[in-house]
Amino acid sequence: MNKGDLIGKCIVVTAGGTQEPIDPVRHIGNRSSGRMGYALAEAARDRGAEVRLITATTSLPDPAGVEVMHVRTTTEMKTAVVEAVTKADALIMAAAVADYQPKTVAKAKIKKESAQSLTIELVRTPDILSEVKGKFLKVGFAAESEDLIANARKKLENKGLDLIVANDITAADSGFDVDTNKVTLIDRKGRVEELPMMSKREVADKVLDRVVGILAEKSS
Ligand code: CTP
Repeated sequence: MNKGDLIGKCIVVTAGGTQEPIDPVRHIGNRSSGRMGYALAEAARDRGAEVRLITATTSLPDPAGVEVMHVRTTTEMKTAVVEAVTKADALIMAAAVADYQPKTVAKAKIKKESAQSLTIELVRTPDILSEVKGKFLKVGFAAESEDLIANARKKLENKGLDLIVANDITAADSGFDVDTNKVTLIDRKGRVEELPMMSKREVADKVLDRVVGILAEKSS
């Protein structure tokens, strides 16, 4: 790791868990704390990059020295990403993106009245990583509870990624809402690097080491 190795580069990072509204007071969400994405944004900033952080709702303070855009839904995140990547060298999608959204959003708070059950029809959200196209390098995360490497490889292929960070969310002290993470990095060339448990900031620097390496390979 070199403190200035991202000088002159623009890195777009997404963070947090998107929320899909059901009615004015309720939403579908997930357990993402945003810490991995924020750690990536801060680490990229400290290595000299111009950083754009697109974040779903978190309880974390905006990092200094980073352009922060706040979004709520997957569709809002996609719009912000499409805008931000126009001059980006890399997009790192650390956000936990909702895969489904309610087909319709009730305008008024849903009352329970006498109903004993409620069915909400869900439709797919856009797949941001797959749909956003450009020359920038694409890094995805794979949050898996089984078949970690095989599932992560499939996502790398299907989403056209340069690098995927495979995250076993069933491991203790790894994944959602903790400061540590245990990940395996897999790149397009099939290289697999299993990292020990480390802080999310250390994981962020390991991911950025690979981003620096792949950017150098691409430009040579
Ligand atoms: N992702 C995305 N848009 C979505 C869903 C996911 O851009 N609608 C991104 C995530 O930010 C992550 C990667 O795709 O970098 C993989 O996300 P993950 O939730 O692990 O996988 P999914 O594609 O949602 O597949 P599944 O939930 O079926 O495992």
